[in-house]
Amino acid sequence: MNNAITLSAWELNETDFDAGASPEQQLRFALQYAVLAPSNHNTQPWRFIVDGPTVQVCADRTRALPVVDPFDRELLISCGAALLNLRVALSHFGLSYAITVFPSESDPDIVAQLRVSRDGHLDKALATLFVALTTRVTTRTPFVDEPVAPRLQWDLTAACDAEGAIATCVEAETARHAIAQLIAEADHAQFADARFRRELASWIHSRRRDDGMPAYGAAVGGLLNIAAPLVTSVVRVFDVGAGAPATHQRLVEGSPLFVGISTERDDPEAWLATGQALERMLLLAASRGLTASYLNQPIEVTTLRETLRSLLNVDATPQLLLRMGRGPQVDHSPRRPLSDVID
Ligand SMILES: Cc1cc2nc3c(=O)[nH]c(=O)nc-3n(C[C@H](O)[C@H](O)[C@H](O)COP(=O)(O)O)c2cc1C
Repeated sequence: MNNAITLSAWELNETDFDAGASPEQQLRFALQYAVLAPSNHNTQPWRFIVDGPTVQVCADRTRALPVVDPFDRELLISCGAALLNLRVALSHFGLSYAITVFPSESDPDIVAQLRVSRDGHLDKALATLFVALTTRVTTRTPFVDEPVAPRLQWDLTAACDAEGAIATCVEAETARHAIAQLIAEADHAQFADARFRRELASWIHSRRRDDGMPAYGAAVGGLLNIAAPLVTSVVRVFDVGAGAPATHQRLVEGSPLFVGISTERDDPEAWLATGQALERMLLLAASRGLTASYLNQPIEVTTLRETLRSLLNVDATPQLLLRMGRGPQVDHSPRRPLSDVID
């Protein structure tokens, strides 16, 4: 059996873009960048229907995670991230566009309709993030124990703000300890649920697949076993069996910055906006040498969401919780071929 993971989706050559091609061909080219977006468990829950200069970005609910994400909230966040990538690529190639979100009342799976048009919107700030599309990666290892500069924190917050979401940066050690405590509580609740463990394990693969999370890397390789929750949890935090107190300490020390992303509303539009804010912030972070991973447990365990809100001290609904900092180079995860996701 071939155990190699195919990472060719990441080997794109922007000079292959044909400025004289039809809008449809140009859209298809740009969609190669859209699918590099992050998604929960790397489910890649999106489909694209291309028709001339128009593309419909659709949620693929057959790839839902009913246990961890029963309302498809994170699924729509993932689609938002893909939409942001598409906007970045189009902006880079000088193509302006107009977007309508949730254009169809009868079909809530169409999350956005984007039309390339000369009198559309051209966002120069987005174009500057293009290089980061192929360098951004989720990094689950401990980060260098050094603060993230205040100016950079401000820029990360502004990136979320530009997409209609509120980022809250938490760097004080006591506050990070309190959040780490909440994460541990949520982790415990999730891993006590066999359905959660089964769903997570079903998306971690030790052999070649073009979706899900590859079980490679020092933290995961060879250790995966659904019967051992702490081992599966390396994908969620970075515990390698050191025990809960050690994990808590390492999480705080290895995460110089926690960032919460919240929205005023808590509905599909807000989730789509969250995904665009997330990816705009992650691409900016990557372009400045920062990386991130996710600690969404206290949001997914809904009874803890309010506690997180008060720890973040925000008058809005938390949608995502991340840790950010400087980390080592890690491998990308695979993507499905474009032909599987374009109609
Ligand atoms: C909405 C959302 C939720 C996520 N939740 C988690 C999580 O709880 N734990 C985690 O380790 N990664 C999480 N991820 C990261 C994905 O696992 C990651 O994006 C995916 O495996 C693809 O890898 P890449 O980001 O390196 O391209 C999440 C990503 C998104 C978009």
